[in-house]
Amino acid sequence: MKAWVYAHHGNPVDVLKLESDVDVPQVKDDQVLIKVVAAGLNPVDFKRILGLFIEADSPLPTVPGYDVAGVVVKVGSQVTLFKEGDEVYGNINEKGLDHPKRYGTLAEYTVAEEKLLAPKPKNLSFVEAASIPLAIGTAYEGLEKTALSVSKSILVLGGAGGVGTFVIQLAKHVFGASKIAATSSSAKLELLKDLGVDLAIDYTKDNFEDLAEKFDVIYDSIGQSERAVKAIKEGGQVVTIEPLGDLTPPAFRFILTSSGAMLEKLNPFLENGKVKPVIDPRGTFPFSQTPEAFSYLQTGRVTGKLVIYPIP
Ligand SMILES: NC(=O)c1ccc[n+]([C@@H]2O[C@H](COP(=O)([O-])OP(=O)(O)OC[C@H]3O[C@@H](n4cnc5c(N)ncnc54)[C@H](OP(=O)(O)O)[C@@H]3O)[C@@H](O)[C@H]2O)c1
Repeated sequence: MKAWVYAHHGNPVDVLKLESDVDVPQVKDDQVLIKVVAAGLNPVDFKRILGLFIEADSPLPTVPGYDVAGVVVKVGSQVTLFKEGDEVYGNINEKGLDHPKRYGTLAEYTVAEEKLLAPKPKNLSFVEAASIPLAIGTAYEGLEKTALSVSKSILVLGGAGGVGTFVIQLAKHVFGASKIAATSSSAKLELLKDLGVDLAIDYTKDNFEDLAEKFDVIYDSIGQSERAVKAIKEGGQVVTIEPLGDLTPPAFRFILTSSGAMLEKLNPFLENGKVKPVIDPRGTFPFSQTPEAFSYLQTGRVTGKLVIYPIP
């Protein structure tokens, strides 16, 4: 099959090579083989290629990619949830940084355990579905860990990013937060309001920690826990997802666990249109331009998500 492969760590634009004779991965008993239709990109993909997580990574050469939307073409002997022809989506790595698969989603075919997958939401395209799993899973798990609930307010740092756009929408429609604030640069404030933010803060003009208002929960997708702890109410919670760098207590961090059941639980919110995937205006790149997509992702300026589509 065709797949993007790296045999050395380094900048994705330098080390990623398009190969056309990669073996299609074998399906284990609890896995399905998926014809990849679209693959979403996440910062973890380029951080892993750069070699930032080598302690617990799979061996090289590696096919990168966590997020997939595609069609089941083969099922393992113990699979009960899916059959050939089913349209599925998911993040194929159960533990984000603990031995992610050697054969990822930036390929014609990929395998995943059935428990990591869910039926593709009926109203969404493969491109939209591929943009969702890792980011929405991280958003949901972080909000659960903060015990966000209807009477509580939340500030989302990095509201326009892949994770932040879902944190805002889940805080509003799934957790029922009483007030949602979020940060972005000037040009993205309108998007934040469209997503349901009550207070959109332009970080190029205002420091969120200088506001008189304090928050019950802060969801930090940037790595600003030192500032965030100054903006919580007494007893408030700060969750940060930036895996590297300093952490200021009482802020805590976690690495996501992928779950098909969680996606299935959120499918109704995607299917009724309350929660929408946000894809960057330049957000769909053909398979051949995967390195260009990585270069854009690495700027840190992407709005919502980038997706590789079509895949041969
Ligand atoms: N722990 C985990 O399990 C986990 C899971 C997923 C992601 N992560 C990590 O979480 C981080 C965010 O991931 P992501 O997918 O959301 O990234 P992303 O989509 O690449 O984030 C890009 C967005 O960040 C915004 N941004 C950059 N600097 C900002 C600042 N100072 N204040 C407010 N917004 C800012 C940008 O908006 P502007 O252009 O307006 O600045 C842009 O829209 C990454 O470091 C990723 O590795 C961790």
